[in-house]
Amino acid sequence: MDTIRLYRSTIGKKAVMAVTGGVLLLYVVAHMVGNLSIFTGGLDDYGRWLRAVGVVWPVRIGLLAAVALHFAAAYQLTARSRKARGRYAHRRPVQGGYAARTMRWGGVIIGLFVVYHLLDLTAGYLNPHGVEGEIHANVVADFRHWYVVLAYAIAVLALGFHLRHGVWSAAQTLGVTTSRVLGLTVAIVVCGGFLSVPFAVVTGVVS
Ligand code: HEM
Repeated sequence: MDTIRLYRSTIGKKAVMAVTGGVLLLYVVAHMVGNLSIFTGGLDDYGRWLRAVGVVWPVRIGLLAAVALHFAAAYQLTARSRKARGRYAHRRPVQGGYAARTMRWGGVIIGLFVVYHLLDLTAGYLNPHGVEGEIHANVVADFRHWYVVLAYAIAVLALGFHLRHGVWSAAQTLGVTTSRVLGLTVAIVVCGGFLSVPFAVVTGVVS
C-alpha cells in the first residue's frame, strides 16, 4: 500500500527513474568495458564466456524491466508537469525547459538506436557479416563503413548527454556536492570507451 502511494508521488517516480537509471548505467559500463576486449583479440571468447556462465537471459530480463519502468516513470512525470503548466497558462509552448527536452529526445534516440543495434549485432540481420558467435568479425564488418560509424557515434554522444544530466540529477537528489563533475566524468568515460572501438576499426588499428 505504502509502496503504491510512494510510486504515485512525484518524488516516488523520480526515485524509480534514479534506481532504474542506475541499473541501466551499470549495464552500460559493463558492456563498454567488455567491448574493450576487442583490443586484445578476446571479444569472441568474452561472448562465449558470458553465454557459458548463463548471465545472458537474466540480464536481458532485468534490462527489459528497468527500461519499461524508466520509460513509464518518465512518461508520467512529463504528463504531470504538462498538466501543472497548463493550469498556469504559461506562454512558453515547449514543456520543461532545455534539460528536460534534451533528456526526452536523448531517450528517444537511445531507444531507436538499441532497436537498430539489436538487429545489427545481436540478431545479425542488419550486419554486413552477421554470423552468430563471430562477434569480432561482425563488429569489424560494421565499422568498415563510415555511415555505420556515424550512426553509432551519434547514438553514443546522445547517451553521453543523457548520462551527464541523469547522473548529475540523481547525484544531486542524494546530496552529492560534486554531482556536476561526476555527471561529466561518467559521460566522458562511457563515450570515450564506446567510441574507441569504431574509431580503432575505421583507422585500421583493429582489423
Ligand atoms: C560502439 C559501441 C558499441 C559496440 C561496439 C557494441 C557491441 C555490441 C555487440 C558486439 C553486441 C552483441 C554481443 C553478443 O552477441 O554477445 C552488443 C549487444 C548489445 N548492446 Fe552493444 N555495443 C555498443 C554500444 C551499445 C550501447 C551504447 C548500448 C546501450 C545504450 C548497447 C546495448 C546493447 C544491448 C542491450 C545488447 C544486447 C545484449 C544481449 O544480447 O542480451 N550497446 N553490443
